[in-house]
Amino acid sequence: MIDFSLSEDLLEIQARARKFAQEEILPIAAEYDRKGTVPPGIVEKAKKAGLLNVTIPREYGGMGYGALQSAIIAEELGAACSGISITILVNGLALTPIQLFGNEEQKEKFLRPVAEGAKLAAFCLTEREAGSDAGSIKTTALPDGDDYVINGVKCFATSGSMAEILVVFALTDPDRGARGASTIVVPANTPGIRVSKVEDKMGQRASNTAELTFDDVRVPQSNLLGKPGRGFPIALQTLDFGRSGVAALSVGVARAALELAIGYAKERQQFGAPIITNQGVSFMLADMGMKVEAARLLTWQAAWMADQGLKATAQSAMAKCFASDTAMQVTTDAVQIFGGVGYMRDHPVEKLMRDAKILQIYEGTNQIQRMVIARQLAKL
Ligand code: CAA
Repeated sequence: MIDFSLSEDLLEIQARARKFAQEEILPIAAEYDRKGTVPPGIVEKAKKAGLLNVTIPREYGGMGYGALQSAIIAEELGAACSGISITILVNGLALTPIQLFGNEEQKEKFLRPVAEGAKLAAFCLTEREAGSDAGSIKTTALPDGDDYVINGVKCFATSGSMAEILVVFALTDPDRGARGASTIVVPANTPGIRVSKVEDKMGQRASNTAELTFDDVRVPQSNLLGKPGRGFPIALQTLDFGRSGVAALSVGVARAALELAIGYAKERQQFGAPIITNQGVSFMLADMGMKVEAARLLTWQAAWMADQGLKATAQSAMAKCFASDTAMQVTTDAVQIFGGVGYMRDHPVEKLMRDAKILQIYEGTNQIQRMVIARQLAKL
């Protein structure tokens, strides 16, 4: 049986996330967008509100939620500020490889202190020459005695210069290419790690995006997650999981722009009537509304499938791609409806439009999502 209503549990989570987003995030969104930094204390506040590391099991300091609960939270936070929210949300992505592939000792050593202490973790996969083609990473982690010695440069790592734990994808057997990649947990204070750049971004400016250089960084081989050589599938499985989160964040961004545009179209008078009475404007709003609803349904479906233990590779790519394209289109149309006012730096729709762009790029560009979807369809 299909039921589109939210359960009591989901309604409580939604209300809690909305309250936090409206009270703690929205009022400071513009200020930290201008500053280009993460608001101090926001991660701790999210933890206190039960909105951090939500998919990490309770026994390790998370909330033990599923993907659908997490999607409900991401939409609410995203509607307030996707930049501030990505710091809160992407922590779960970085910790997922430890949760899924770590042994008990690793979970105790890395997952629990980070999750319980509201500390940040960063997912270090991308390199300058390995963006969409994530399998072509060049960073090495060569075995030396009981250690791995890591050399290379990771870029665009969310929370990269703030994180205490780095989940690094590196070649432990470079001759085997992607099949020689492994996943290694690296404490960020290990000697040899340098923050080589903090990015100045177009949107989602209230998040930290950094390049990290690894020079002879030595960590024990016991920090390896799963089996050596399985790093690439671990990265892809983690991204499958994360993509419904980006989809939900995108729905939040699009919803915020739609609500602002509807409000403005009803009150803005031109030619002696509210502009919503023009078919040209009302049809734009109708298309925007339709897309937001469709994006949410795809997102919830992908999240629900993940919660059922079903393979959701295609659905999470569909949700991420459709929802982030929707966010870009809806925010652009919202700026159009606001006209000159919406183009100005001090207007929220201007920020929403800048913030939307990266949703089509990170956690796999939408061209890569279409490739993933097409490959899955070809298997049918
Ligand atoms: N789950 C588990 N394993 C998978 C998988 C999945 N969804 N998809 C593929 N695999 C396995 C394959 O079975 C294969 O395993 P074997 O070697 O054992 O055969 C291996 O992974 C390689 O698969 P492919 O041959 O399909 O790899 P490919 O190189 O042709 O394509 C890709 C892979 C889908 C294009 C991948 O490179 C990709 O997703 N690229 C985008 C990268 C990305 O999303 N980056 C985001 C960075 S993180 C970020 O942005 C977060 C942030 O900070 C906000």
